Amino acid sequence: MPPHAQVPVDSSPPVAIDVDAVVLVGGQGTRLRPLTLSAAKPMLPTAGVPFLEHLLSRIHQVGIRHVVLGTSYKAETFTEYFGDGSASGLDIEYLVEDEPLGTGGAIRNVAGTLRSDTVMVFNGDILSGLDLSALLATHHDNNADVTLHLVKVSDPRAFGSVPTDPDGRVQAFLEKTDNPPTDQINAGCYVFQRSVLESIPAGRVVSVERETFPGLLAAGARVFGHVDASYWLDLGTPAAFVRGSADLVTGIAPTDALPGPTGPALVLPGAAVAVDATVVGGSTIGRGVVVGAGAVIDGAVVFDGAVISAGARVTRSVIGANARIGDGAVITDAVIGDRAVIGARCELIAGVRVWPGVELPADGVRFSAEG
Ligand code: GDD
Ligand code: MG
Repeated sequence: MPPHAQVPVDSSPPVAIDVDAVVLVGGQGTRLRPLTLSAAKPMLPTAGVPFLEHLLSRIHQVGIRHVVLGTSYKAETFTEYFGDGSASGLDIEYLVEDEPLGTGGAIRNVAGTLRSDTVMVFNGDILSGLDLSALLATHHDNNADVTLHLVKVSDPRAFGSVPTDPDGRVQAFLEKTDNPPTDQINAGCYVFQRSVLESIPAGRVVSVERETFPGLLAAGARVFGHVDASYWLDLGTPAAFVRGSADLVTGIAPTDALPGPTGPALVLPGAAVAVDATVVGGSTIGRGVVVGAGAVIDGAVVFDGAVISAGARVTRSVIGANARIGDGAVITDAVIGDRAVIGARCELIAGVRVWPGVELPADGVRFSAEG
């Protein structure tokens, strides 16, 4: 497959800035299985393009041109799609970890490719409206060694909790604890001084969250937080994935890579949607998808080639490539793997995951007793 990245290159590109970008994309995306059995999490189609295209469009927009992808799991899916990055107006290099080096190890692994003294590091599964130039300004104003983007969330237990003092200096970094001291969390985007990045031990597994940040704090390094209240979402779970995709389609989440106008639905070329079908809530209908009469698709992501039959209702769910949903089936908060066949009137709800190629007969799985 030839590189065919679709990030539009603006006719008046921003002035290039002397900053490298590093994107961590080596994780297995376990919480998104079975979708991530065939593609890495950042390559999953999200609002019509691989998720990573949205992030790269934001990186391009701030003026960064040199991007290094730290890959491991399904590494070839990135190179096949993005190539050298020129189609996106970027210069993309790849560093493949045969064995995953962890977040800190992956960051250290790119040291030899860097061209600038300032390095922006991105977790590859974050959708955010952060003003990247404001983060860089905070970093430079504080003469910081490392600056972390921080956001407030209602349940910080699944994240890195990062208390700061009134000057914004980071006081502690506590990765995924039961009793986090603050609801202010690591948002997965950092600015590193190159010399600090080079101080991470090379050639072994390192967690930037559990080892590097606590170590830098203990050593008295200048680590600052940049708190911001713009859009932020980690797309690591099915529920977050469908929400993020819908927010991109409706325009709630910013991107320069949406392959169409923002609105209640994104229907990609080659899809055939029946005139009396309803497609709303920021749903994406992939290339070649068929949506039958009276079907209702709300806040869902339908991958290329799937068939949604007459009267089916698909809500906040992902329908894998070439999957088939039978007449009148109800799919709510579910993940249906590629090529799976869901028989007529089946009801699949509440977080159920159907593995690729599985076939359920008509009426084979129900949630309600009647009918
Ligand atoms: N190259 C490489 N190698 N990348 C990796 C590796 C690795 O060994 N391990 C993880 N990654 C990448 C993942 O692909 C992902 O893009 C990113 O690093 C973060 O990994 P996740 O598995 O998504 O971590 P998380 O969401 O549980 O927690 C992280 O993100 C939170 C914000 O969403 C941490 O950084 C938390 O502190 C943070 O709050
Ligand atoms: Mg994550």
